[in-house]
Amino acid sequence: MQVGLKVWRFNSRTGERELQEYEIAAPEEATLLDCLDIVKDQHDGTLAYRKSCRMMICGSCGMRMDGAAVLACKTRMYDIAQAGHVPVISAMGNLPIVKDLVVDMEPFWEKFRSVDPFLQPGYEEPPDGKEYRIDQPRMNVIHKEALCINCGCCVSECNSMEADPNFLGPQALAKAMRFVGDPRDGNKIARLEKLNGEHGIWECTRCYMCTERCPKGVDPRDAIAKLGAESMYEGIDRDMGAKHANWFVVSAKTTGWLRETELVPKTQGIISAIKQTRFALDLARKGKVPPPFPPHVAKNVKESRRLYELTTQQGPKGYMGIVQGEHALSRLAHGHTGEETLAEIYERPGAFKRPFIAGEELEAPVFLEKPPER
Ligand code: SF4
Ligand code: SF4
Ligand code: FES
Repeated sequence: MQVGLKVWRFNSRTGERELQEYEIAAPEEATLLDCLDIVKDQHDGTLAYRKSCRMMICGSCGMRMDGAAVLACKTRMYDIAQAGHVPVISAMGNLPIVKDLVVDMEPFWEKFRSVDPFLQPGYEEPPDGKEYRIDQPRMNVIHKEALCINCGCCVSECNSMEADPNFLGPQALAKAMRFVGDPRDGNKIARLEKLNGEHGIWECTRCYMCTERCPKGVDPRDAIAKLGAESMYEGIDRDMGAKHANWFVVSAKTTGWLRETELVPKTQGIISAIKQTRFALDLARKGKVPPPFPPHVAKNVKESRRLYELTTQQGPKGYMGIVQGEHALSRLAHGHTGEETLAEIYERPGAFKRPFIAGEELEAPVFLEKPPER
């Protein structure tokens, strides 16, 4: 197939940028990385990009295609080439460019290192000859976070990092959750205290771009939500972001909608609210602020209160609560209406394969006959 590529070239010595177009012949199964290899091998040896494993494991080949971060070795070019589209390839965002598609990963690694990405054991030593084993529900808490390959695609797309380059960012926070949620780690509270500081979890604007662009399904925004929930569970809720979130809950529970007029005094305190009186009056004059009294109560406020009751009755709090909610949502996605048991759902024709549930007896392994020797 014929593939067209427009590549943003960059020379960090001169600061020059240039959009260069290439037209190449590539096999139908080619990925973006294969196409770049063809460009480099056959057309232009000066093109710079990173790669190693070619199989979505090493995290080296993060770059942008048409403005969105991708792993080049995961991106098939067939449909794009068939549509006659010529994509624009550029370096990842939020990291300084060294040359062409190669970025300086040091700011990324600095944040990675700052969350102490290693276990700090606090558990009792297992008896001699035994392993420290964790039950499945506890491992489910960090299952997604453990899939991270440090590619930087999430960092490239993070809006908060664009506004504040010191924000820890989605990758470092997902990595932090990997250890906060590990029952073998003995430093959870100290970790949470640190993550609740300046440039920490509450600086995330919840734009979900990290989750959308992560090529491994790590879901960094969810990891940040779990860190927030666990912080609250552990009573670490001094930050304005935590107060903000708490007020959302109270407001939705009592009136069924978000009372923004009270948001500033509840999260920033009375003094800060007074300082912003003029701004509030300007908003009120433009009809942007509803009168605070009497508080408007939504017609279906009972639904909101019921939702609150249900979530508080669920039992597990903190990150366990979020994982439990996720499982409930996935049951709904699998068609669970409450009328059938899960076992019945898995027996439906064409149903998803039933997953192994921790604590169950495993089916006896099937051994294949050894082929006859020739
Ligand atoms: S959700 Fe938060 S961490 Fe993720 S990209 Fe948006 S601002 Fe960044
Ligand atoms: S969270 Fe996803 S996008 Fe971010 S570094 Fe890890 S694998 Fe890459
Ligand atoms: S080359 Fe390793 S992830 Fe793409």
